[in-house]
Amino acid sequence: MRDDITNIAIEDYLADLMPPRPHTLAELERSAREHGWPLIGPVEGQFLYLLARSSGAREALEIGTATGYAATWLLRAIAPAGGRLVAIERNPERIALARSYVTHAGYGDHFTIIEGEWFSTLEQMEGPYDLIFLDILRHLQGEREALHALELCVPKLRPGGILIADNVLCNALVLEDDAAPTVRGIQEFNRAIMTHPQLESVIVPLRDGIGICRKRD
Ligand SMILES: C[S@@+](CC[C@H](N)C(=O)[O-])C[C@H]1O[C@@H](n2cnc3c(N)ncnc32)[C@H](O)[C@@H]1O
Repeated sequence: MRDDITNIAIEDYLADLMPPRPHTLAELERSAREHGWPLIGPVEGQFLYLLARSSGAREALEIGTATGYAATWLLRAIAPAGGRLVAIERNPERIALARSYVTHAGYGDHFTIIEGEWFSTLEQMEGPYDLIFLDILRHLQGEREALHALELCVPKLRPGGILIADNVLCNALVLEDDAAPTVRGIQEFNRAIMTHPQLESVIVPLRDGIGICRKRD
């Protein structure tokens, strides 16, 4: 299923304009289509890359890594300057794939993946991070979990750091008044990032909606 909430023809147009990707990313895109693996796709990948590159991020954290596609885009931006990415993922098969793909892309020395549940793992991480990519919102079941993720992420961002959250428009389900708990959680998350005293934020309606938050200095 595609998550695009904007015109699908426009999303396809944007994807078609993307230059060819390096072998690992192209291979991951092909395998994901074949096996149904979740990944952000080339346009959002380039978007992440540009945010990481233009902000000069070095220490990055990804929550929900799957097979390492977004991780590879982030590492393209941060590894050449000596940056590192720590990733959290609970699925062992995906962890093995992510390690293998990231290593093939040449970034193995800059990448650490931790197997575990996001909540207990994140609680133990110290930071501070220059960039956090939160990509588990649609997997959170309880209504309070998305807000909890935000409350854990903000203290781990350095001042001036960026939090990027994927799927914040949740296939347009955020428009519903009587939404399911996962979606109610994302609705709360969106209200919180737009009013949070420590954040300045915007939601970009690309693909399934991307929240971008800068922690105030
Ligand atoms: C949308 S996918 C991530 C896609 C990846 N960021 C990319 O674009 O390449 C979300 C991932 O989060 C993982 N996940 C879901 N719930 C989790 C949890 N409670 N703790 C840790 N990982 C979780 C899933 O196994 C899945 O691989």
